[in-house]
Amino acid sequence: MLVEGLRRLEYRGYDSAGVAVLSQGRVESRKKSGKLMKLLDVLEAEPLPESPTGIGHTRWATHGGPTDVNAHPHLAGGGKLALIHNGIIENFAELKAELAEGGHSFASDTDTEVAAVLLADCYERLLPSEVAWGGLTVAMQMACQRLEGAFTLLAVHADQPGVVVAARRNSPLVVGLGDGENFLGSDVSAFINYTRRAVELGQDQIVTITPESVEITDFYGAPAQGREYEIDWDASAAEMGGYASFMEKEIHDQPDAVAQTLLGRSGPDGSLALDEMRIDADRLNAVNKIIVLACGTSAYAGQVAKYAIEHWCRIPTEVELSHEFRYRDPILDQDTLVVSISQSGETMDTLMAVRYAREQGAMTVAICNTNGSTIPRESDAVLYTHAGPEIAVASTKAFLAQITAAYLLGLYLAQLRGNKFQGEIKDVLADLAKTPDKIQQILDNSGQIKDLARSMSESRSVLFLGRHVGFPVAMEGALKLKELAYIHAEGFAAGELKHGPIALIEEGQPVFVVVPSPRGRNSLHAKVVSNIQEVRARGAKTIVIAEEGDEAVRAYAEHVFYIPETPPLLAPLLATVPLQIFACELATAKGYDVDQPRNLAKSVTVE
Ligand code: AGP
Repeated sequence: MLVEGLRRLEYRGYDSAGVAVLSQGRVESRKKSGKLMKLLDVLEAEPLPESPTGIGHTRWATHGGPTDVNAHPHLAGGGKLALIHNGIIENFAELKAELAEGGHSFASDTDTEVAAVLLADCYERLLPSEVAWGGLTVAMQMACQRLEGAFTLLAVHADQPGVVVAARRNSPLVVGLGDGENFLGSDVSAFINYTRRAVELGQDQIVTITPESVEITDFYGAPAQGREYEIDWDASAAEMGGYASFMEKEIHDQPDAVAQTLLGRSGPDGSLALDEMRIDADRLNAVNKIIVLACGTSAYAGQVAKYAIEHWCRIPTEVELSHEFRYRDPILDQDTLVVSISQSGETMDTLMAVRYAREQGAMTVAICNTNGSTIPRESDAVLYTHAGPEIAVASTKAFLAQITAAYLLGLYLAQLRGNKFQGEIKDVLADLAKTPDKIQQILDNSGQIKDLARSMSESRSVLFLGRHVGFPVAMEGALKLKELAYIHAEGFAAGELKHGPIALIEEGQPVFVVVPSPRGRNSLHAKVVSNIQEVRARGAKTIVIAEEGDEAVRAYAEHVFYIPETPPLLAPLLATVPLQIFACELATAKGYDVDQPRNLAKSVTVE
């Protein structure tokens, strides 16, 4: 059960793994650097005893390299206590010195072992009455009062069979409620096979589970409540569904991801009903600035949304990288609407930025794909994307769903503030409703882009150009290629080329160009076509994504991939898809693991 749970969490990225079980008054543990297969080899060679209680961990190294010694669980208290940890203990050095002073020794370089030794030290100091009540719980409370930083901790103690005690601060942890059994996991996929009843926990909480009970307290022992909810997807949704990888499955999930995100959010009269938007209308009417906070692909979704939101709502909209935002002394107040975009809802950079924004009095809305995750819980309102679980580390369907949700938010604000007539909003919603089928058309005709990808597997560098909403699409196309195929790639605003980057162009340099529709009065089409000519004249190999019927680009393109006609602001929902397929196919041709690219984790829960 532990190994199967760890297998479901593999997508989060890791470089060592381990388990510990309680049996006959002892803690038995096995751990190994490398992938789960290595741990299985160890378990094969030295089997663990049967046990109904255990903890398991996959580690993404922060303090100390991915070695056997540094892998979790860490034992302490004479081998009677085992601990696993996600996050970073920021004051581990001073605690380590204090514990060493007290005569404790350490086998590893990790901050986790310091937490384990501290917990064992607290346990050893318990009064007999506290041990009788539930020693490990009390010891965990005492230890957590000393810890600074972000952590999810799980511990077992040989003196308390059938008990697992966990704690969380700024790091994910969720409880699974079974019949005669209970579970803990950093996300629900760890136990989705056994139960779909879950309990989300709040900040600075400790949970003690036994087969029959779940007790929650704060770090000082005061009882607390978790929020019980039904997990809205089943184990099969997290399976590959017949595709060669989660990445490929999720690229093909995109029509549904967009459709599900739109579902149930507009009434029969075409008006928008975003019932999770628990911010009262007059506050939203007073909004005079929007700041979007996100990282990586989610930030590119924000950049796409900026064009639409400013066009529809006429509210100045800034898109900020979360990790830059709170260190630049930003200008925001109670009339600022801060929109975080996060697939996981656990990205520490974004969570800390949202916290900062709330401290400044801003309203906060989370666009998130993970029910029960931390960022929505710490926001005033949430707009869930319904893309289903995104397992592959590189984000695809969540990206399109995020753009869709951000557009719904923009239309909602425009409707509330009267910037757009009901008819106009209805038209945009009607166009959005047509995009799933258009995405499907692209997916059904992806053979040509896959052939091109395989033919380019030796490329050393690829450039991506786009303009207006096509610019963040170019950035996202470059990011996919970096993440999946480990090829240097860079996205540029097409207009920026002649201000420097065009010096990069040499004979045969592959350049993708995302071309806007030629339709519409202020189309940028002509300008982008001249950008294509500029690079082609210098030897570039131009690969163009253009709208069906756009014959003008053919003369300047080595390859043209057509996408169905759609209003310019919705084009990113289509133009991105060929770029995702290209990156996935090229990485596959190189034999890379497209679901778990090297060095990456699905959810970056450390700052
Ligand atoms: C995207 O392919 C990457 N996996 C990464 O940039 C990701 O978008 C970023 O870390 C933000 O994650 P979040 O959406 O879960 O907050």
